[in-house]
Amino acid sequence: MKNKYIEIKNLERVYQPSSKVKVDALRGLNISIKEGEMVSVVGSSGSGKSTLLNILGGLDWDYRGEIIVDGKDIREYDENYYRRYIVGTIFQTFYLIPTLNVEENILLPLKFGKKMSKKETHERLEKLLDAVGLADRRDHMPKELSGGQAQRVAIARALIDQPKIVLADEPTGNLDSKTGAQILDLLNKLNKEEKTTMIVVTHDMKIADKTERKIKLVDGRNV
Ligand SMILES: Nc1ncnc2c1ncn2[C@@H]1O[C@H](COP(=O)(O)OP(=O)(O)O)[C@@H](O)[C@H]1O
Ligand SMILES: [Mg+2]
Repeated sequence: MKNKYIEIKNLERVYQPSSKVKVDALRGLNISIKEGEMVSVVGSSGSGKSTLLNILGGLDWDYRGEIIVDGKDIREYDENYYRRYIVGTIFQTFYLIPTLNVEENILLPLKFGKKMSKKETHERLEKLLDAVGLADRRDHMPKELSGGQAQRVAIARALIDQPKIVLADEPTGNLDSKTGAQILDLLNKLNKEEKTTMIVVTHDMKIADKTERKIKLVDGRNV
């Protein structure tokens, strides 16, 4: 286990939507996360949580400072490789493809990613369907699923490529509190079983209480 698996040093992000408007969304974040750790990022709306997650996810490169993952600056990774095999992402609104069934949604990343053998793919799919409790729903379409089930499909899809880090931005934001708590229990279980480092953004303290450690953001700084 590496103690400083993710190191965020002096991270700054300024949005400049027009010449007159400037938003200091992140103002010098310093965070270390251990390999295999499960942390939450908490803070009120506008504190910079999504900005941080987008940068960590390789979706936004317009930042200052340094992000080291597994000893290497993320700018030095091949971008596609980074987004496919280093990070997996889960969003509040699930983003399932409505015309694909549960199984096809989970397998979708493999269409673009590394070629797993048929046998490996089958084993990985069965393991994840079992882990997220959807083995009997594999043929269902997204519209036939509850919110909690849809999010469990999105979790399995994020994990199919065995990413090192799972990033979740308000994964319980569209769910009732009981279902949200179950999603966190599932992420905790997968964190242990798959040894995936997990970063869960939430503004809900009850959800954050379910993680090993909380990182609190206030106005773009960690406190
Ligand atoms: N694309 C953008 N353009 C301009 N300002 C943005 C953009 N995205 C976010 N912001 C601003 O940056 C700050 C942090 O936003 P965000 O990271 O979305 O916070 P959170 O996820 O904690 O609610 C807010 O003031 C927000 O309005
Ligand atoms: Mg946000």
